[in-house]
Amino acid sequence: MEGVEERQAVEAEVENAKSVEVRRQDFFKPVAREYEADIRVSERSIKFVKSREGVEGFTTLFQDRFKKIRRLFGPAYRGIEITSSSVRKEHFHGEELVLVGMVYEKRESKKGHVLLYLDDLEGRVVALISKDNEVLKERAARIANDDVIRVYGRVASNGELFIVDDFEWPDIRERVEQPTVEKEVAALYISDTHLGSRFTIEKYFYRLIKWLKEPAEKKEIAGRIKYVIIGGDLVDGIGIYPGQEKELTITDIYKQYERFDHFLNELPDYIEVVVIPGNHDAVRRGEPMEPMEKGLFTRDIHSLPNPSFVTIEGYKHLLYHGTSFDAVKSSIPGLDNIHIEQTLKEILVRRHLSPVYGSNPIVPGEADYMVIDEIPHIFHTGHVHRNAQAKYKGIVLINSGTFQGMTPYQIKQGHVPTPGKVPIYDFKDKRFGILDLNTEV
Ligand SMILES: [Fe+2]
Repeated sequence: MEGVEERQAVEAEVENAKSVEVRRQDFFKPVAREYEADIRVSERSIKFVKSREGVEGFTTLFQDRFKKIRRLFGPAYRGIEITSSSVRKEHFHGEELVLVGMVYEKRESKKGHVLLYLDDLEGRVVALISKDNEVLKERAARIANDDVIRVYGRVASNGELFIVDDFEWPDIRERVEQPTVEKEVAALYISDTHLGSRFTIEKYFYRLIKWLKEPAEKKEIAGRIKYVIIGGDLVDGIGIYPGQEKELTITDIYKQYERFDHFLNELPDYIEVVVIPGNHDAVRRGEPMEPMEKGLFTRDIHSLPNPSFVTIEGYKHLLYHGTSFDAVKSSIPGLDNIHIEQTLKEILVRRHLSPVYGSNPIVPGEADYMVIDEIPHIFHTGHVHRNAQAKYKGIVLINSGTFQGMTPYQIKQGHVPTPGKVPIYDFKDKRFGILDLNTEV
């Protein structure tokens, strides 16, 4: 990947970056122009929008979440599968049992045991992880409220407590293989451009467009870019946080989108553009979010809901803005603002994009479309304004950075952005790159 900082996909338990030999061309001829686009939006993405009518409330939403995630566990590795109601009805004589429940509450008992209040569709079971089982107790530190977990163990002789000797999250159960693509095509991943903010650096757009059209050096990868995928927060919006108006250069939301549209139209015409909204965009705040109106853009683009599944060149992409990351980060120990790939991994482990109910609004309804019930090849997110590239069980994790510099809000929140660094994934060569727009390209 010439002109692009080379990155080897790293496992979430991270390997060192290796450089890859580059190939040069004598002249710039964008090969992506020669190919037809191959992009299919999942039917499911469309349902994200339709299913919000007939709201039944959060009970139906959480029941649907529980049912969907329970199916993702696969066969239990041992024990008799039971539900909460059978704990009291049957007499199990110390047999090995398995139960799937949603964590209503986790707390520590006076004696130092971990108590898990687990709900299923029939009722509640109190499960106990002994303080003497130190390894399990340490793993249990990562259990958050609303997690759907499967516990292995026995019912105590008083018939009331479920004594846990192992537990698991649904997780990604089999390693994901990346498809083989013959076409020399690649995608460029952007998010959080925040047009309209006075901290946004428009120079990045000019450099990106120049790089795509006439790179300073002959860069093969620039000519392979067939897709630009944008993970939300296209504009800064208005009224998103108190005092925002002082930090805007464009105070009309339509004018903010006009500015964005101007840059969209500057991209080469053979490039397909996919966008989803973020929490700053002109859609309802609760997730799932409807797609941004097509009328905001004069270029013909794919405007999809947040989240969405879309298959590009055979690579199934899960696109999600990342509004839940703040709640996830504060509920699971060991996550921070730097190693974003660890947050993405915890979300995949739980098979839910917004596993912790709390600070970020979700839309109640009869179906939970935030469940990750299909396994993607690429999981692309944004929101935290910091790049991450890693692999988890073969799934490519990409958090695209931002075109916005550090804001006073981010300083307060302890965010450390990586502005102007744009991730690239080359489908043919199955490798990462980072295009750094902080220097001339
Ligand atoms: Fe953002």
